[in-house]
Amino acid sequence: MLLHIPALFTADEVARIRNALEQADWADGKVTAGYQSAKAKHNLQLPEGHPLAKEIGSALIERLWSNPRFMSAALPHKVFPPLVNCYREGGNFGFHIDNALRQPRGSHERVRTDLSSTLFLSDPDSYDGGELVIQDTYGVQQVKLSAGDLVLYPGTSLHKVNPVTRGARYAAFFWTQSLVREDSQRALLFEMDNAIQQLTADVPEHPALLQLTGTYHNLLRRWVEV
Ligand code: NI
Repeated sequence: MLLHIPALFTADEVARIRNALEQADWADGKVTAGYQSAKAKHNLQLPEGHPLAKEIGSALIERLWSNPRFMSAALPHKVFPPLVNCYREGGNFGFHIDNALRQPRGSHERVRTDLSSTLFLSDPDSYDGGELVIQDTYGVQQVKLSAGDLVLYPGTSLHKVNPVTRGARYAAFFWTQSLVREDSQRALLFEMDNAIQQLTADVPEHPALLQLTGTYHNLLRRWVEV
């Protein structure tokens, strides 16, 4: 399941973030890539633990944790702290699948990468190319969102970033280990939760809501891993 979460940051906020990023010292993106994906990766990244990456990362996580759609779709257990990257002219990242496990620097705990998220930080008109291309269960999806918007997609999917042919594409990305490992099970729970929310708004007194909400929690209890 692919989920678009619009306007996590305002235009002013992303403009301020971009300003700071333009002054930053960038490193080769290959440092956080696995052996296979390093060969396909041609971009720049803020080093892990960079103060600016930490600041952007905590702001992003804070917004998402108070976003009901993200919480319902991702059912987050733990995250690998957000990283920030930049593709300039010629930058691209060929088809790959992300490593299954990530260990944040200075931590002993590993994160299983059930879900990937990308927050777009550049206005789509300010660069050419740079689409995030994701092979989903329903075919190939091309994603190029407004600055401040986020896409959430399964970590199991093959994906790439098309070459940027003009301008610069800034983005933040991170991985989430979900309480529910399987994408198909998470998708069912998300759809059911959406239906329950709609019914709660439209027919709040309907007795079937009690049953449906109970069934949601009993399915979650069956599938959850903590
Ligand atoms: Ni990737």
